[in-house]
Amino acid sequence: MKNLAIVGTGYVGLVTGVCLSEIGHNVICIDIDQGKIDKLNSGKSPIFEPDLEELMIKNIKSERLYFTTDHSEAFKNSEVIYIAVGTPQKSDGFADLTSIEQAAIQIGLHAKRDVIVVTKSTVPIGTNEKIKNIILQYLVSDIKVDIVSNPEFLREGSAVRDTFYGDRIVIGAECQDAANLIEEINKPFQIPIFRTDIISAEMIKYASNAFLATKISFINEIATICEKIGANVEDVAIGMGQDSRIGYQFLKPGLGYGGSCFPKDTNALFHIATHEDYSFALLKAVIDVNKKQQTLLVDKVKQRFGILEGKKFAVLGLAFKPNTDDLREAASIVNITRFIEEGAEVIAFDPVAMQNAKRILPATVQFAQSIEEAIHGTDAVFIVTEWKEFIDFPLNKYVELMKKPIIFDGRNCYSIIKMMGYPIEYYSIGRPVVNENYNK
Ligand code: UDX
Repeated sequence: MKNLAIVGTGYVGLVTGVCLSEIGHNVICIDIDQGKIDKLNSGKSPIFEPDLEELMIKNIKSERLYFTTDHSEAFKNSEVIYIAVGTPQKSDGFADLTSIEQAAIQIGLHAKRDVIVVTKSTVPIGTNEKIKNIILQYLVSDIKVDIVSNPEFLREGSAVRDTFYGDRIVIGAECQDAANLIEEINKPFQIPIFRTDIISAEMIKYASNAFLATKISFINEIATICEKIGANVEDVAIGMGQDSRIGYQFLKPGLGYGGSCFPKDTNALFHIATHEDYSFALLKAVIDVNKKQQTLLVDKVKQRFGILEGKKFAVLGLAFKPNTDDLREAASIVNITRFIEEGAEVIAFDPVAMQNAKRILPATVQFAQSIEEAIHGTDAVFIVTEWKEFIDFPLNKYVELMKKPIIFDGRNCYSIIKMMGYPIEYYSIGRPVVNENYNK
């Protein structure tokens, strides 16, 4: 078992640290935020992620997992240091590498034994080279430093599961001994390992996310055409997915992709290509389609109501997807902001993301404690995140509680056949409208 340090206790760092300790390694996680470190050492996870807190508590108790703000303490005995700090998007579209550079400086100053530095953060092509140069520039001890690119592919909401049952682990390295050691560390996960050079590993991450984003924008455009010609996009997606060359996954139409990765990584890859004098036209279209898709319900409701002023709307779902409290690039933000700008009153509900939402959404947004409270007396309900609670919600309650039951479903939570049995106007994505203008 190895002594490992992880720099950054955000989403990627925390999940990676907890899972590596669970397979038997000694892990020290570092963050500059003392409050966060104290909370982590007491067994409290700062993020909502299934199974994470339980595994964290278990490994803290087994003394295989520890959190600190002290780089020298963390790096003293570490054979491998993972960099898992954030690389947010700057206003020019490129990734902000400030935290990466800071991590590299700290490694140079405090590493005391030969070390392999593993980059988990998604970084622009060539960044690993830069990391190595910064470490060497600040290096105090006479030690050997090797760099490995080991991008993560975990999804929020199933991050722990994805770490244990992922499709592949990519290891990009120049030094084969370093690659061998990282392979050995990851062996207990029993996931296929793919080895390549550093630049190709960096590109695998961007290309994978860009491809998945392309699938989503593609099916969203197909959905729009389905609406125009009277087809049902769900059947179209099933029929497409039966072709194993296409596959079923990531063909779910909706209000576009959000979250911390797809928007940021597609923009970053587009800018990387532009920087190399290449116009990545397909990816540009993917990004543009997504932007349009996020506010599709605003267009639909304006078509139905004309003006929105004085209307009371319920928004169900604020997180960018279910099973997370993350609102980064969530469709809820743009939709709610537009409703408010157009003069509507908004009452929102989300099973776990309301705390975060209160910090981000316009101050006039009201928050309900239940679905019932949110939809009560409203002119229309908008489903923005497909939480199980919404899917399981009895449809007759919309009829009972709303002024006139009108639902705009941005995630296709209910079957068209089922909706036909209720006096509800139902507008969804890429499927026929049910009871169109019934309440007009
Ligand atoms: C993604 C990648 O899946 C993961 O491999 C990478 O490491 C980080 O980015 P994540 O952002 O957590 O993970 O969520 P994911 O489940 O992939 O969904 C991203 C967005 O796409 C969500 O907004 C989701 O609603 C949307 N989506 C996904 C669709 O609109 N349709 C689909 O069919 C699938």
